Amino acid sequence: MPTYRFPEGFIWGCATASYQIEGSPLADGAGESIWHRFSHTPGKIKTGETGDIACDHYNRYQEDIGLMRWLGLKAYRFSIAWPRLFPTDERTLNPRGLAFYDRLVDGLLAAGIEPFVTLYHWDLPVWAEDRGGWPARECAQWFASYASTVFERLGDRVKHWITLNEPWVSAYLGYYTGVHAPGRQSLQDAVSASYNLLLAHGLAVQRFRQSGRPGEIGITLNMSHAVPASDKEEDKAAARLFDGYLNRWFLEPVVRGAFPADLVAAFRQAGLKLGPMSAEDMQLIGAPIDFLGLNYYSISTIAAAPGFPGFRQAPPPDRVLNTMGWEMEPEGLYQLLLRLHREYGLRKIYITENGYPLREKEFGGPDLEDEPRIHYIREHLLRAWRAIQEGVPLRGYFVWSLMDNFEWAEGYEPRFGIIYVDYRTLERKPKRSAHWYREVIAANAIEA
Ligand code: FCB
Repeated sequence: MPTYRFPEGFIWGCATASYQIEGSPLADGAGESIWHRFSHTPGKIKTGETGDIACDHYNRYQEDIGLMRWLGLKAYRFSIAWPRLFPTDERTLNPRGLAFYDRLVDGLLAAGIEPFVTLYHWDLPVWAEDRGGWPARECAQWFASYASTVFERLGDRVKHWITLNEPWVSAYLGYYTGVHAPGRQSLQDAVSASYNLLLAHGLAVQRFRQSGRPGEIGITLNMSHAVPASDKEEDKAAARLFDGYLNRWFLEPVVRGAFPADLVAAFRQAGLKLGPMSAEDMQLIGAPIDFLGLNYYSISTIAAAPGFPGFRQAPPPDRVLNTMGWEMEPEGLYQLLLRLHREYGLRKIYITENGYPLREKEFGGPDLEDEPRIHYIREHLLRAWRAIQEGVPLRGYFVWSLMDNFEWAEGYEPRFGIIYVDYRTLERKPKRSAHWYREVIAANAIEA
């Protein structure tokens, strides 16, 4: 069996997010988040579930750190719930909310695990939403002052920062389709939100540099490799547009300091008002980052379609779809990594999420024997390995997710964890994939 060895010091990790695992959303003086409110609104979550208990990580974080240590993780990516720190407004810090992350960070460091902290993984405080939310420009300033506080309080120990997780999802699912919190349905709001999220990112990077704290900061984008459904010119143009809408709209302002011209034109043609794009804003948004976080799950086969946005997903008949309906094709990861390196010249990339969902009912019991997940992760890691051989500066990989958790509008049904969570007893059990990942980490290599 050939062995695919990863570079020395490659960072093996797992990822989670606050609202998806913590539970106790209002404990110790925390304020409501838009996800708390949304999941408590009837009809919003397919299964009617909420994050009230989730994995109870808020109380069981020590046990979870123990599991991470058993896995041999080098790093753990988690997010901070902004409304725990600022429950009522942008000025009043709740020290008890911050104390939870103090304990978590100290516990991780004591276990020899590097914290990778995401500042925003979708749980906006409701006070911010009620004052306009992401479509309001001031939201970027509120975020920046929250970020400053975190740098000041945790920056003595945390050395890796991610400003935002998947701003495309925050903007479009939150404000356009309304499938995610806060559930608004306005394309204009979504486009405004996308701009202000990018501005928030830029301001946070600026605050981090000003803080003088050592360490690195970047952003996590959800990207897909777009392929046209046919050789027809219209499908090729649609795939390019989709790539602009999902990938380039967020990537290019951050790494090139400019929004992609084709998308600017398409949005204007659709009658949308775009942010000022002033030289000052663009300088902030485009300030150098230390790394790009890439969340990669699937490839996207795209065909032309009438009306806005002008494209639709059209998977070929032989394409395997996962339980979320996503197109499985690991080669897309390889293509995307090469492109990020060659076209955008990125200096450092982490895969901050990649993973595979399974539904318990497909197994009639706990899916501890999760071979399809191992297959998925292995195939993607092999593509990552190949990209590294070609010079792509990929420095780490984080499995989504450490454990089963609240999968947003889908509730708890799709399970992404390599550790199983029994939601009745909250007991954790490593799945086959956890044992496998543990061996990969120990060997710093894959045998395939
Ligand atoms: C990503 C999210 C993460 C999780 C995975 C499955 O879009 O960042 O929270 O829900 O998808």
